[in-house]
Amino acid sequence: MTTSLNELETQLVALKQEATPAIAKTDTLDQLEQLRVNYLGKKGQLSQILRGMGKLSPEDRPRIGALANEVKEALQQSLDNKRQELQAAQIQAKLAAETLDVTMPGVYKPQGRIHPLNSIIDQVLDIFVGLGYTVATGPEMETDYYNFEALNTPQDHPARDMQDTFYLPDGNLLRTHTSSVQIRYMENNEPPIRIIAPGRVYRRDTVDATHSAVFHQIEILAVDEDITFGDLKGTLKVFFQELFGEDVDVRLRASYFPFTEPSAEIDVKWRGKWLEMGGCGMVDPNVLKTVGYDPEIYTGFAAGFGAERFALVMHQIDDIRRLYTSDLRFLQQF
Ligand code: DAH
Repeated sequence: MTTSLNELETQLVALKQEATPAIAKTDTLDQLEQLRVNYLGKKGQLSQILRGMGKLSPEDRPRIGALANEVKEALQQSLDNKRQELQAAQIQAKLAAETLDVTMPGVYKPQGRIHPLNSIIDQVLDIFVGLGYTVATGPEMETDYYNFEALNTPQDHPARDMQDTFYLPDGNLLRTHTSSVQIRYMENNEPPIRIIAPGRVYRRDTVDATHSAVFHQIEILAVDEDITFGDLKGTLKVFFQELFGEDVDVRLRASYFPFTEPSAEIDVKWRGKWLEMGGCGMVDPNVLKTVGYDPEIYTGFAAGFGAERFALVMHQIDDIRRLYTSDLRFLQQF
């Protein structure tokens, strides 16, 4: 019995002596957990030693019990301390690894921007929307009827020559102007009408500094009772002042279009010369009749502008072709 008591005491002391430095040396949480199981777990060394208690006399048991508790608490304390130390180290390491260096130069990503042509179109739409106009659109592949016929330009009309264009095998064509949208819109709506129609148009034009076979137009149309040429002039004046500034030089020059009467061309000063921005006029009564409006009740004005021309004036660009070359050195200036 006495041997047994001593044996157990020795084993407990030995356990503590072995375990304490082993715990201190551990450097991962996994290893630490293994040690805990090994020393203090259900089947661990402490439990095994305590199994020997059954052989002790009842008087000896409290002594070993007290010692066992002491060893257990000491080891538990060592394990807890070590765990806290390792966890703190782990957090430190993570913080160090994830440090954000706010002084490090960023990764450069070139930023896209709106093409100067689209930007001009947007500005023009904004101005007219501000004046109460609605944006309307139509197809780029058009029928002869909407592009010419309904615009008071029959098959044999000489005005067709100027706009002779890209015809498709089925007799349709790539629209030569956005005026076709006027007809499409009026067919489906009743006056009063205020629309603005932007879009791409196609001409068999010889390309030069101010012409292109594919370009962009912006069409406006107002139909109502008592609309006069004065309304057209006033609208154009307000519009050009908004777009180019108060001191813009604008002039109207008498002209001819089959779908307006009277008609005029609109010029703006560009690099010291007059540059045509588009055509305009009072909607021809024949056009109103074609869409079923009574020209005795309604009058209207219309205009069609070249968006590229606006860009030339706005940015003092010398050649329309620069807008299409996709040369970023040029485009990034705007
Ligand atoms: N459609 C004409 C063209 O492309 C421009 C034009 C002139 C449009 C007079 C109009 C207008 O709306 O009233 O040359």
